[in-house]
Amino acid sequence: MSVDTTAGVPQLWTREGFNGPVSVVTRRSYAPDFLAVEGGHVPRRSVLESLVPRDQADAAALPTVVATSKIGVRLLTSARSAPMPFTVRNVEADELHFIQSGQVRFDTDVGSLVADEGDFVCIPRSVAYRYAPTKGAMRSVILECPSALSLTPPGPLGMINFGRDVQPAKIDAEIAPGGPTKLLLKTADGEVTTYLVPHDPLALGLQLSSSVPVWKLNLQKIQSLTYEPHGGPPSMFLSSRDGEALLFNLSSRSGGRAPAHVNADFDEVILYVRGPGAYGACTEPGTLTLVPKGVIHHGPIESVPEGYQAWLLETRATLRFTPEAIEASELMETGSYGRHPSIVA
Ligand SMILES: [Fe+2]
Repeated sequence: MSVDTTAGVPQLWTREGFNGPVSVVTRRSYAPDFLAVEGGHVPRRSVLESLVPRDQADAAALPTVVATSKIGVRLLTSARSAPMPFTVRNVEADELHFIQSGQVRFDTDVGSLVADEGDFVCIPRSVAYRYAPTKGAMRSVILECPSALSLTPPGPLGMINFGRDVQPAKIDAEIAPGGPTKLLLKTADGEVTTYLVPHDPLALGLQLSSSVPVWKLNLQKIQSLTYEPHGGPPSMFLSSRDGEALLFNLSSRSGGRAPAHVNADFDEVILYVRGPGAYGACTEPGTLTLVPKGVIHHGPIESVPEGYQAWLLETRATLRFTPEAIEASELMETGSYGRHPSIVA
């Protein structure tokens, strides 16, 4: 690894993400380096394009699971080319859909919305929904989390313009009750129970409450915080009630390169959404990286003048890629998040 270690690369150990005790040392070698590894607790990277979800060719399929955990946090991906021919209600997890590409119409128990590239769409537990690509292909990454997800920026104002940019679903009176509809109830382990109901459950009448639990927000509308001149940790904009999932905007921002990091409590998942600039070795749109908790990582510099978009998920879950995700991914070095040099091309 071509990193100057004469002055020592600071190594930061943190508890509770960036909110607990910390320790900083310098090491006399480049800490993220490893020569070889065997076992499952390893950093991996994948370009979403290489992971073909079953729902791409089979309209009857559900999204394909990318990573699972013992506490019910899961990552999935979808690439529908046709509308869902059923309605689904996740009865054990909130879902956050990130639209990597395409345009997607969501119809739900509380209203409808159209999501574009870069939008997060939040669908809480037990809200039924279905979605459809509106302009050909689409690709999304889905986070499932057992406890409630909500927008939790660090201050009341400034990071997110709630009135302008957080857009709630609205009732579409055009959806007719129609005839018999399949309603799938899905649990956290992926078990599916299929009901046949006499009418479309998403045909709604009036909105009677002021709050709407389904909303969308574009990544580019979330302001990045930085501590001049050094950068400092990224700032969370969304979290789960029980703290098992935290989301950060990791798009380019000013500041220096972060220290090497040991994250004691959280796995780190980054989605490099798109450039024009590179995030280290992440140059292909839709590059997904995973660094498990306790694995030392440095990570690329975030100060990239030409800019890029990315987000970071920190989760207390210990994620494991599914066999098909392992097949579509590769071992990653944790300096600049490229392919590990032990992999023979
Ligand atoms: Fe980190």
